[in-house]
Amino acid sequence: MNSAVGLGLSGVSPTAAHEVPNAIKSGMVCHDAKEAEPNPMTEPIELNPAGNSVYEQLGGDPIFQHLVDIFYARVEADPLLRPMFPDDLEPGKEYQFLFLTQYWGGPARYQVERGHPRLRMRHAPFPIDQEARDAWFNHMVAAIDEVGIPEPVRSQMVDYFARGATFMINQAD
Ligand code: HEM
Repeated sequence: MNSAVGLGLSGVSPTAAHEVPNAIKSGMVCHDAKEAEPNPMTEPIELNPAGNSVYEQLGGDPIFQHLVDIFYARVEADPLLRPMFPDDLEPGKEYQFLFLTQYWGGPARYQVERGHPRLRMRHAPFPIDQEARDAWFNHMVAAIDEVGIPEPVRSQMVDYFARGATFMINQAD
């Protein structure tokens, strides 16, 4: 099974929980012929038994904004990762926020502003090796813990970012 399954990295992420089509809810594979990445599958975000998305469970935008702020502050201070990012971090920060809220079940604002995520393709210009991946992932886990995201969502997010960050590796060590 491809590691990108369910990451929302190559497929279109579901938007609000109530907009997730039944075919996707039932786990049906969606193929997008235009997608150049290895795995065009999309899976729904996790829904709790009450049907609330992670976005709703965490109370919407503020926690995600806080997460992205902390993550970016850590990236800015990291001598390995900082040179990979542009001088102006603000646009990327906003896209990260829009993507993550969309992926975890919030409004489809990333899609509206940036189109199809195609994240592996969007990361192709940056030399991402295992070391960079680990640095990125460790900053994200630290941000998750600083924000205090509760279980079981914490584990879902850590698992997602672990697999997603590995999926972005495009350079041998
Ligand atoms: C699950 C893992 C990851 C996710 C969900 C993710 C998500 C994103 C998103 C949504 C963007 C903005 C794309 C756009 O322009 O619309 C972005 C940009 C970027 N990402 Fe990632 N990313 C991940 C892993 C990584 C890793 C491992 C690295 C490097 C070690 C990395 C480095 C970058 C860089 C350098 C940019 C460009 C920022 C800018 O233009 O301001 N990402 N990422």
